[in-house]
Amino acid sequence: MSQTTKPWVIGNWKMNLDRRAAEILAREIADDPSCRAKIKVGLAPPFPYLDRVAEILGHGPVALLGQDLHPEARGAYTGSVSGPMLRDMGVTHVLVGHSERRRLHGEDDNMIRRKISAAVEAGLTPVVCVGEDLAQRESQQAMTTITTQLQAALAADGWPGQGETLVAYEPVWAIGTGRVAGREQIIEIHAGIRRLLPGHARILYGGSVSPDTAGPLAREKEIDGLLVGSASLTATTFLAIVKATTPA
Ligand code: PGA
Repeated sequence: MSQTTKPWVIGNWKMNLDRRAAEILAREIADDPSCRAKIKVGLAPPFPYLDRVAEILGHGPVALLGQDLHPEARGAYTGSVSGPMLRDMGVTHVLVGHSERRRLHGEDDNMIRRKISAAVEAGLTPVVCVGEDLAQRESQQAMTTITTQLQAALAADGWPGQGETLVAYEPVWAIGTGRVAGREQIIEIHAGIRRLLPGHARILYGGSVSPDTAGPLAREKEIDGLLVGSASLTATTFLAIVKATTPA
């Protein structure tokens, strides 16, 4: 973690929680003083709960993220949510290219490029997610895979722009598996990503981050923050990660 910029901790709730549980969790996080100092905390709730979570977060320091967006701003796209709609709800950042979108929703690099353009156009900061699957890792194709993903992202209009450039490295085989990537693996990939992006890029790690692994990960100079799935679903585990990530 760099000494000069605040690390990020983003909780991706995915398709979990109900309205009541989302409210309670958002309130516990918003009210906790550890989410204020020396750290940037963000929450990505399911779309139907964005409005309520936005209300709870108010004008406080915790950022509101979308989990995805449609590449078009409006139109006949049943079931989809656009960048301007997210912006309207108080969202400032949006995950783009999460491996679950790539894998389960068939999003290819071209679609992700369009979504990044749409996010920028709507005034949202995309958190561009990249990562290799197990077969690619085992055949030494991890960096090649990520380079292709990033080159597509770099072809998006307006990205990276003047604002913060955020990328999340999430090895697919580490997501939801309890298997955190090794230190050397992460450092090598983060350094590779950094070489492809402008100097100010912030690179987050995601994949089975827990209160136990957050501290050591956060102390690595190459890691600018954490993207947390399962462990973001309870205030206890998420706040423990926030505390472990906060610089002394
Ligand atoms: P996980 O998910 O922490 O449950 O592995 C991370 C993510 O998908 O962002």
